[in-house]
Amino acid sequence: MSNYHIKHLEEYFQVYRKSVRDPEHFWQEVAEEHFLWRKRWDNVLSWDFSKPEVKWFEGAELNITENCLDRHLRTHGDHTAILFEPNSPDEEAQHITYKQLHEKVCKMANVLKDNGIEKGDRVCIYLPMIPELAIALLACARIGAVHSVVFAGFSSKALATRINDAACKMVITSDGSYRGAKKLDLKSIVDEALESCETIETVLLVERTKNKVVLKEGRDKWLQPLLDAADSTCEVVTMKAEDPLFILYTSGSTGRPKGMVHTTAGYMVYTAYTFKNIFQYNDGDIYWCTADIGWITGHSYIVYGPLANGATTVMFEGVPSYPDFSRFWEIVDKHKITHLYTAPTAIRALAKENIEYVEKCDLTSLKVLGSVGEPINEEAWHWYNDNIGKNKSPIVDTWWQTETGGIMISPIPFVTPTKPTYATLPFIGIQPSLMDESGKEMKGNQVEGRLCIKYPWPSMARTIWGDHERYRDTYFSAYENKYFTGDGAMRDEVGYYRITGRVDDVIIVSGHNLGTAPIEDAINEHPAVAESAIVGFPHDVKGNALYGYVILKEYGETRNLENLSKEINQQISDRIGPIAKLDKIQFVSGLPKTRSGKIMRRILRKIASKDTSNLGDTSTLLNPEVVQEIMDNSL
Ligand code: WT7
Repeated sequence: MSNYHIKHLEEYFQVYRKSVRDPEHFWQEVAEEHFLWRKRWDNVLSWDFSKPEVKWFEGAELNITENCLDRHLRTHGDHTAILFEPNSPDEEAQHITYKQLHEKVCKMANVLKDNGIEKGDRVCIYLPMIPELAIALLACARIGAVHSVVFAGFSSKALATRINDAACKMVITSDGSYRGAKKLDLKSIVDEALESCETIETVLLVERTKNKVVLKEGRDKWLQPLLDAADSTCEVVTMKAEDPLFILYTSGSTGRPKGMVHTTAGYMVYTAYTFKNIFQYNDGDIYWCTADIGWITGHSYIVYGPLANGATTVMFEGVPSYPDFSRFWEIVDKHKITHLYTAPTAIRALAKENIEYVEKCDLTSLKVLGSVGEPINEEAWHWYNDNIGKNKSPIVDTWWQTETGGIMISPIPFVTPTKPTYATLPFIGIQPSLMDESGKEMKGNQVEGRLCIKYPWPSMARTIWGDHERYRDTYFSAYENKYFTGDGAMRDEVGYYRITGRVDDVIIVSGHNLGTAPIEDAINEHPAVAESAIVGFPHDVKGNALYGYVILKEYGETRNLENLSKEINQQISDRIGPIAKLDKIQFVSGLPKTRSGKIMRRILRKIASKDTSNLGDTSTLLNPEVVQEIMDNSL
């Protein structure tokens, strides 16, 4: 296994240099060594960022589930593949071995086939963090159906938009979900969504909470009886390297979410290789990523990456605060977790609580800590390092995106010296560059600019479902021949990268990627609202919180503004989901605009952040007088 497990910094530099000098040769070696191919590729890579078109391992044939399941049966059949920790600590954890998982996936795949799902069909998965969620992904992949997971915290409208965009044929959901002390009724959210979806033929229902549900005749079916009756083997459907594996939506700068399309071979190779090296996973380790499979982190580093390595991956159904703030640390002790991969927002939330919650736990099983989703601030980094890692477990601060499919910039534990708030060095095969405002690449160290990637990597998204032009415009038009990430970054004196945050209209709240446009659209649909603008402002737990500036149709209207604020937030909750609610809403008579009518968010951002010392030149605004009014009334 020469390509796996980089051991020291010199080796990292050697392998890195090799990977960028001759990327095709490098990735070919990785692909040759560790995977099961039905047919070998004819060509490792062809690419053209101007179209953009990227193809990895063209000509190859494979099935990713054969690599995640079948391949391990002989050597790891009785090892735990998925370790399920339920919402309530009183419910027993489940250890699902590779053999059992293989059988469950085969049965589910047969149920999908029996219900008319064929290769290329899209299946929407709207499930809580229960084993059936991972099984559903793999069942789709086994028969070549394209899964589209929608996070089960999204509203019925958001779900409907996603189902319609991909023209899904089936929804897999559950009667309900547990979130701490709360029980959510998922089935009625699905029912509401399906009122505006024409393409869904079947709804498969997992029983979880025993909520009362109404089954729609001819459409809705309980899954369990179908699984009980299904055959426990299912031959894989052979996929071409570039066949789509899944669609996953992320927010963008217009109201419509972007369905990022990931394909099969490159995604498999890259997630497997990064998982192994970035977490330095060894047989017998217990790896826990606390993300939800509704996000890319869960796809790549709860399901595909770990399973491709025969690892034990933990799925946690609940929340860090239930039954109390010790839950995470109790789970670490209970299952002797060796690798913990979580988000800065969770770290900050737990760091605010009494340290007793941590101190009563042992935590000595931990070896590697991970962070993902947003920049980790200095304070949270130290708290995590001192109290959880006890100064001996390195923190891998992993920077990447839904679009990149896998981790792009990250330390390698025990290899790359960590530095608080720095994602440090590009991973093997990744060629970042920083661009200045004029579009020139900034060479050398101690520079800050916009983060681009100048060479393809195997797990990059290939397109936006149904809208290739938008894919090109969003990612490949800002800088010629480069993928533009939307993030700003600096490179320090030794070449370490620090991600400084989004430079576009996306705001990261509690690690969730939120576009300003869809939220503004939701607000503007309120009958009393004329126009609105959303900006982020620093928040000590969420990283950023949302501040909304709202113009009413009748300014100075005597309506109760407090109620109106509530209605606006309810509206956002209905259209998108509770994660997009505003922390502050200020009613204004106007918004600062340029002469061409563009809202000057920079000014609004500064006011929301209470940083008004240097607003810059406001004299070129169409309506400079409104700035003073907004400042005077700012919340
Ligand atoms: C955006 C992507 C990658 C999976 C979860 C989020 C921000 C992500 C880091 C990090 C600083 C980070 C970036 C990125 N981000 N990881 N370690 N340090 N920022 O995926 O929802 O597609 O969001 O999250 O701004 O562009 P996503």
